[in-house]
Amino acid sequence: MKNIDTGGHVTGRSVYVDDIPELTGTLHAVPVLSEKAHALISKMDLTQAEKAKGIIGILAAKDIPGENQIGGILPDEPLFATDEVHYIGQPVAVIIATDHFAARDARKLVKIDYEELDVITDPRVAQQKGQLLFPPRTFANGDMDKGFTDCDYIFEGLADSGGQEHIYIETQGSYAVPQENNNLKVFSSTQGPTVVQKTIARVLGLPMHCIEVDVTRLGGAFGGKEDQATAWAVMAALAAKRFHKPVKLILDRDDDIVATGKRHPYSSDFRIGLDKDLKIKAFEVTLYQNGGAAADLSPAIMERTLFHVTNAYYIPNVKATAYSCKTNLAPFTAFRGFGGPQGMYVIEAAIAHAAARLGVDKSEIQQQNLIDKGDQFHYGQVCDSHNARKSWEELHHHFNVEKARSAVNDFNKTHRFVKKGLSIMPICFGISFTKTPMNNARALVHVYQDGSVGVSTGAVEMGQGVNTKLMQVAARVFSVNTSRIKLETTNTTRVANTSPTAASSGADLNGKALQIACNEILQRLKKEAAELLKTEIVHISIRNEKVYIDDQPTELAWEALVEKAFLSRIKLSEVGHYATPVIHFDKTKEKGHPFTYHVYGAALITVTLDCIKGIYETDSVQIVHDFGNSLNLTIDKGQVEGAVVQGIGWMTLEELTYDQNGHLLADSLSKYKIPDVYSAPKVIETIPLVTNGPELAIMKSKAVGEPPFMYGIGVYFALRNAVREFNPETPLGYNAPLTPEKVLLALYDKKG
Ligand code: MOS
Repeated sequence: MKNIDTGGHVTGRSVYVDDIPELTGTLHAVPVLSEKAHALISKMDLTQAEKAKGIIGILAAKDIPGENQIGGILPDEPLFATDEVHYIGQPVAVIIATDHFAARDARKLVKIDYEELDVITDPRVAQQKGQLLFPPRTFANGDMDKGFTDCDYIFEGLADSGGQEHIYIETQGSYAVPQENNNLKVFSSTQGPTVVQKTIARVLGLPMHCIEVDVTRLGGAFGGKEDQATAWAVMAALAAKRFHKPVKLILDRDDDIVATGKRHPYSSDFRIGLDKDLKIKAFEVTLYQNGGAAADLSPAIMERTLFHVTNAYYIPNVKATAYSCKTNLAPFTAFRGFGGPQGMYVIEAAIAHAAARLGVDKSEIQQQNLIDKGDQFHYGQVCDSHNARKSWEELHHHFNVEKARSAVNDFNKTHRFVKKGLSIMPICFGISFTKTPMNNARALVHVYQDGSVGVSTGAVEMGQGVNTKLMQVAARVFSVNTSRIKLETTNTTRVANTSPTAASSGADLNGKALQIACNEILQRLKKEAAELLKTEIVHISIRNEKVYIDDQPTELAWEALVEKAFLSRIKLSEVGHYATPVIHFDKTKEKGHPFTYHVYGAALITVTLDCIKGIYETDSVQIVHDFGNSLNLTIDKGQVEGAVVQGIGWMTLEELTYDQNGHLLADSLSKYKIPDVYSAPKVIETIPLVTNGPELAIMKSKAVGEPPFMYGIGVYFALRNAVREFNPETPLGYNAPLTPEKVLLALYDKKG
């Protein structure tokens, strides 16, 4: 089944926030952003700007009726800065005008006097100065002293990974419309409608029921709209309330890039110990997360980094410590993988480092240490499948890794200035919000008297195809055509108290809730059918829109049954509620069973490097991926392909450069290189690992959003291998992204 949005997307008919027809009198808002990374505001003069053409007013902290606070996990982030600014792009006010361009013009007339303070951009410097966003955490298992004593080899090193700008096609935006009796309806491009609702209520000093948040779909998010869609929706709501007019705030791309947070850069120290059989006996890692100027989602992201520092490997002795460092950059935030990739990159670097020192191929160490059923993760959960090993073996079998390896070796022997590199990247990613209470969802289902069905859930469609999957779930439970099912917008009035659509869990959580609701209605319909057909309910089933008695079709069809049930005054609506069972985590011990299940896979990657120019191409990424029993392989393969390309971007192209004053230098798409069709692998082949899939995944179809992102890490290591083929003496360390500039230097640099 195709993604149901395909037609709308290719014809341009899909509706995003900025496409909602504007009501008469709609005003337009543009934020005023700090131009300094750390400074006291000694004076803010708005008089010239207020007098400019088309200006209705300018709102700042003093105009907030409730709390000037939007921090979700920690209350450390004002909506508007008051006397001190902490990063370039931090909102200090919002300009309301009759049109967007008038507001932008007036912004140039805002005069702010700053007294500049010291700027910190490096997380290690912040940590040394004691500038942490919240206390550090350590996940540990086993006995480190004994672990390292048992080793034949111990290696130490550094591994740094850079941030990543989301570049969702649709920038952040919101449209707030006043309703009668103090209420507001807010359209927002957010992954977290309830977060937006709750934060507007807090800032405006209103109860949550006054705020209705509605989301049709997002033009991409990737985590960037889990928390950071909120500020802009609050500003629009604040202005709508103040001026009693609809207010639209859509960020221009230049503002979006500067003002919103990105993937966290990390700097890490590692120490890895192995025995003669290449078994990893001990692994110690200290991670410095660059958190930016406020906590945002950093506590949860840092936690996921700690969960994923061993990737797909079993290591008996582990100690991982992470610091979230406060710097004068826009608060870093969720991005596909949510800290997991940053942790996984370090263990892969440690393995590569050990392999280089030992003169073995990295894959030999990887293979020796893959986690298997019965092994315990360092956070206490026991691995419940052979899927890490099965993916690895299936990869070798199906894609003939040994043949690919000899082809690369042969090529390198016969080519002097072009080199190929090969690597294998196994992945293991835990599914669930690591904060256990967030793992719940609701679905509201109406079966209308004509047999059509309306479905509302807490899931937000952001291009990932969750609505298509949910449509399939409802259609399967009722056994009706998908054309009978409609997915409604995500709306806080119909489905309340939602968790954000994040952590790859949207289809699982909302799908399970939907399944429950549909099953309730189905039972009532079956009971009605049993009465009509004068039989017992156990004999009744609905198959392909027809009622069956045991295996015999009857004359009673779906539409007629629904109509009869309606006339019998049967309840044809239901709310399903799902809370993931089994999971728990004890933060005092940093142990538990935080994940419903894990997603596994392995990728074989080859790249070709032009050693004169330092430019490269990814020849192929061949993948065995653990989809479980996929509900929709077209959508799931699409998720894998997009994730691979996005992972390649993070690891090899996208470089967030800042100057010492905290200015983002790569602040436009001409300076910040995102992957395009040329940087995409020439071949991406994905085959599903054959498994039954776990009961706790929606219809045994595993979560797919984030896990395949990490295959991109393998491209980095393949590229590194190609560099080393040309220049075995290269001092190239572990500092992602491995951009063409870095590659070119590494090709000709010598040790010492
Ligand atoms: Mo996603 S990075 O969990 O919003």
